[in-house]
Amino acid sequence: MPVAGIDIGSLSTEVVILDKGKVLSEIIIPTGANSKTAAEKAMQMGLEKSGLSLDNLQHIIATGYGRVSAPFAHDKVTEITCHGRGAFYLEPGVRSVIDIGGQDSKVIRLNSHGKVVDFVMNEKCAAGTGRFLEVMAHALEVDLSEMSRLAQLAKNAVTISSMCTVFAESEVVSLIAEGRPLEEIVKGIVASIVERTVAMANRVGLEEKVMMTGGVAKNAAVVKELQESLGMKVTVPREPQSVGALGAALLAEEALGNKEGQNR
Ligand SMILES: Nc1ncnc2c1ncn2[C@@H]1O[C@H](COP(=O)(O)OP(=O)(O)OP(=O)(O)O)[C@@H](O)[C@H]1O
Ligand SMILES: [Mg+2]
Repeated sequence: MPVAGIDIGSLSTEVVILDKGKVLSEIIIPTGANSKTAAEKAMQMGLEKSGLSLDNLQHIIATGYGRVSAPFAHDKVTEITCHGRGAFYLEPGVRSVIDIGGQDSKVIRLNSHGKVVDFVMNEKCAAGTGRFLEVMAHALEVDLSEMSRLAQLAKNAVTISSMCTVFAESEVVSLIAEGRPLEEIVKGIVASIVERTVAMANRVGLEEKVMMTGGVAKNAAVVKELQESLGMKVTVPREPQSVGALGAALLAEEALGNKEGQNR
């Protein structure tokens, strides 16, 4: 009985289609300006890849900030629950999940059964998120993968003192004008994200194993710096961006199982 999870984020939309625990398809596309269009497109692509039609899906759960934009979904679940569920499925010993996406970041603590016991979330400002990295990459005229590479080359980091993305951007522009080495500026930007994440982690109380999800987990420099600051190993799954959609699909399978149980 195929089911699906869809995560409509501020920057990317993912669909995971599962059948009896097996992934039939996994789609990641940019959300763009219209989250409903992105949701429909990602679902269509997922269905095509799986050789299914929408009618074949027995249960669909939507998550992410745009979860209201998926009219075909049967239910909506928070990202906290979905990222927790997906991460615990991928690595059963996981007790903490750090999700850094485009517009918010979260630290989630799970119990030994994978249930969410606590979390903290930064959704008020772009600093400490993927959007912050994108604004800085633009100001430095380098792409995101180049940022990760440069940060790992630097021995020292400049201090970015501004707490706000807009001010931090002008600070970075001044640092370029002062002739500070590019890699040291980039390392400073990475350090700034990591500092905010560690502050959140301290509030929730991190426990090992730690898994990082969301697109920023694809930035190797952020992961490396985070591990060093936390003094803990941080695992990154094969596809960190689709963990929320995977969690939603797993919850859809569970919901379907419950429904079938009731009908028996
Ligand atoms: N290949 C990559 N290398 C480095 N960073 C990446 C890569 N792909 C995505 N990112 C980072 O991931 C961020 C987007 O993350 P993600 O797709 O998880 O966001 P989202 O789920 O749409 O946002 P939110 O959950 O906040 O609504 C980008 O801002 C970028 O910094
Ligand atoms: Mg997200």
